[in-house]
Amino acid sequence: MKREPIVHIDEAAIAAQEKFADIVREHPDRPRTYHIVTFGCQMNSHDSETLAGTLHHMGLRQAEDRAQADLVLFNTCCIRDNAERKALGNITWLKEVKKRRPGMLIGICGCMMQQQGMAETVLKKYPFVDLAFGTGSLYRLPEYLYRLVDEKRRVIDVSREESTLAEGLRTLRDSPFKAYINIMYGCNNFCSYCIVPYVRGRERSRRADDILREAELLVEDGVKEITLLGQNVNSYGNDTGEMSFPELLRRLDATGIERLRFMTSHPKDLSEGLIEAYAGLKSLAPHLHLPIQSGSDRVLAAMNRGYTVEEYLKKARALRAARPDIGLTTDLIVAFPGETEQDFEQTLALVSEMRYDSAFTFIYSKRAGTRAAQMTGEVDKAVATERIERLIALQEGITQEVLASLKGHTMGILVEGVSTRRESQLTGKCGRNISVNFSGGDEGLVGRIVPVIITGAGSNTLRGEYAKEQHT
Ligand code: 5AD
Ligand code: SF4
Repeated sequence: MKREPIVHIDEAAIAAQEKFADIVREHPDRPRTYHIVTFGCQMNSHDSETLAGTLHHMGLRQAEDRAQADLVLFNTCCIRDNAERKALGNITWLKEVKKRRPGMLIGICGCMMQQQGMAETVLKKYPFVDLAFGTGSLYRLPEYLYRLVDEKRRVIDVSREESTLAEGLRTLRDSPFKAYINIMYGCNNFCSYCIVPYVRGRERSRRADDILREAELLVEDGVKEITLLGQNVNSYGNDTGEMSFPELLRRLDATGIERLRFMTSHPKDLSEGLIEAYAGLKSLAPHLHLPIQSGSDRVLAAMNRGYTVEEYLKKARALRAARPDIGLTTDLIVAFPGETEQDFEQTLALVSEMRYDSAFTFIYSKRAGTRAAQMTGEVDKAVATERIERLIALQEGITQEVLASLKGHTMGILVEGVSTRRESQLTGKCGRNISVNFSGGDEGLVGRIVPVIITGAGSNTLRGEYAKEQHT
């Protein structure tokens, strides 16, 4: 297994970027507007907020329409083949727009750019792309823009600097009352199907003080909900030995934040301390995304997941005992190499037993360079499709039942805005992360967590009524 050294980007390197930012801001040829197209997970969404913050700092403003923007950045994902194809399709579409607007700058960044051979591919096959860089060098965006606008050079920088950690970058948040904080980067797990450890590098945790300071500033700024991000937040601090994840949650709770979430947890690293945190910390939202991937021990072993179904169930039961209102969600992969009908039926049985609020379901996608890519026993495409359809149908029925069972409950809803369906209604998310549309409130509630009594359920949303007189 390859182990790259972790590169802590020092303050001098970040300060050097400030100089480039100053030059770009005053440059007559700089792009005036930008548009970022984001693919993939919340990590990428948050990286896009950082890219936006950096671009704003250099005087660029967001353009709603990508075809009208001076700079278009594609923040890509490569977790599955279809994510990659979607990104490349979008980029190719913009080639035609650029023919009409030759001054337009097009950039690609994100996980796709971290793949071996990608730089060569962009150089050769995408000559209309002006800028390409990987996830480890996001902090160098000012320098890249400087080279583009001042030196008029095409910039392709995918030096394999994936194991970096940079502090103090600006972000432009998508929401005034919801925020993300990265607490760690990378993954050491090497699940046999997954490309993430190869493109996002080894696990590296941020200093607790840096995280806490960021949270305090967000609370001061009126943020009500913070989502902590990491490929495997449960192993936060394992590399530094500074602090465990449950301890970090306790410290964050003490900042006065109203609601805390985190993504993603690996079941094998879910500790008793975390289960206790669910029992004791009021701010911790009653939701846990706990990807199981398969209900077959044989498949889990081939996936290198490091737990059995029984071990997973034991932890899930303990969580539900500690926090009876907790909603669990998961990720499931069907048609992993060698998956038999019997293995798949075990996944169905597991889903029936777990009664998840919802599940993300995926057909296995072969990723070059991973261990599973070498495995035999490829499952036929038609069989894979039939399996995922059965799985989705089962989960949809369970989701309906779970949502219906919430009728009559009063829940705290973080109000996000006016419902797009019915203007008299407000919309927001409950602690379990389910969307709730409700009546009886007015726009003054937006950005607050308010009590709502649940009166009905749709296929994946809840309906309710503002419970004015009650307090959560
Ligand atoms: N094929 C299909 N699904 C995958 N995932 C990760 N890699 C693959 C792959 N090669 C899924 C897992 C993971 C989620 C983020 O994406 O279920 O939890
Ligand atoms: Fe991929 Fe497994 Fe790491 Fe999740 S834990 S990012 S699935 S290798």
